[in-house]
Amino acid sequence: MIQLTRRATFSASHYYWNEAWSAAENEHVFGKCANKNGHGHNYTIEVTVKGEPDAVTGFVVDLKALKDVIEEHVLSVYDHRHLNLEVPEFAKVVPTTENIAIAIWNRIEAGLLAHPTMKTAQLAAVRVFETSDIFAEYRGGKL
Ligand code: NI
Repeated sequence: MIQLTRRATFSASHYYWNEAWSAAENEHVFGKCANKNGHGHNYTIEVTVKGEPDAVTGFVVDLKALKDVIEEHVLSVYDHRHLNLEVPEFAKVVPTTENIAIAIWNRIEAGLLAHPTMKTAQLAAVRVFETSDIFAEYRGGKL
């Protein structure tokens, strides 16, 4: 079993807000991130797949196909968007680095299944870097 990782970047805005809380509670918990005008990040994501290298090609997956899946299912939806306002999964879920990693996992997994040559690709991990110092990693499974 070997793992292979592809990196990609996107820029997006977000804010942190829980509708069930008062403005004061949101500001207390989320600080300046609660400003509803939002703020931006340049995100880096790392999508890791696992498997055995194909006996003929030596590939675990077709990297061009993985790139296409990432572009179609994640970047085209997230890049230069306001995550809270324009991306459906964050209409009610706070777009923290953790929740973005889970959402990207779900999008990539669906994308792999929908791609004719990627159905057997096994997703191993999704990492989301909000800055170079902070990242969240999701490996699937129960939360
Ligand atoms: Ni932020």
